[in-house]
Amino acid sequence: MKKNQDELDHVVGHDRMVDEDDIPQLKYLQAVVKETFRFHATIPLITRECMTNCKVGGYDILAKTPIMINIWAIHRHSSAYDDPWDFNPERFVGSGVDVKGVDFELLPFGSGRRACPGMPLGLMQVQYELARLLHSFTWKLPIGENPQNMDMGEVFGVTLPKVIPLEVIPIARLPLHMYGPL
Ligand code: HEM
Repeated sequence: MKKNQDELDHVVGHDRMVDEDDIPQLKYLQAVVKETFRFHATIPLITRECMTNCKVGGYDILAKTPIMINIWAIHRHSSAYDDPWDFNPERFVGSGVDVKGVDFELLPFGSGRRACPGMPLGLMQVQYELARLLHSFTWKLPIGENPQNMDMGEVFGVTLPKVIPLEVIPIARLPLHMYGPL
């Protein structure tokens, strides 16, 4: 949070709100969003059907075979990432790996012809909203909570929501008139 806020203060300052046009300059924020999509992919499994007989990893796959691609497992595979169980945005700082479906170690929007058509909107929305939340507020945990004990578990389904919803307390960090009439 502190690193994001330092970057936001440098790029945006305290006399205006974040704008979509700021996102390309917010490199650390982009790395945080990539790491969040890696570690907490919204959709854990994507499905395909094999069109023709083919071989994958030495296995014969027959035409019409339904395939489930485990994005959740790929995102945690040690052949793709060092310390895959650590949340570490630095791994994407200066890295060429992107979420657009061509880097197969990071596929939060899927890949190929059936990849998510809403990707530009979804990606911009997540980056923009996170930037606004971190620029406008410092977020504290409720008294008695500490980050080590937080349950970050997810419940399996079409998407992966948290089992226990996050509870955080916003503390304003911009001049009060920036928040509009109170
Ligand atoms: C952060 C936001 C989003 C994430 C992480 C996400 C993720 C995904 C994933 C993983 C798939 C399956 C891709 C595949 O099978 O290769 C998908 C499909 C799809 N998404 Fe998204 N999505 C997001 C936002 C959106 C938005 C904003 C829209 C529409 C405005 C959208 C519309 C669709 C549609 C229509 C499909 C089905 C595409 C097809 O089967 O051909 N998504 N999305």
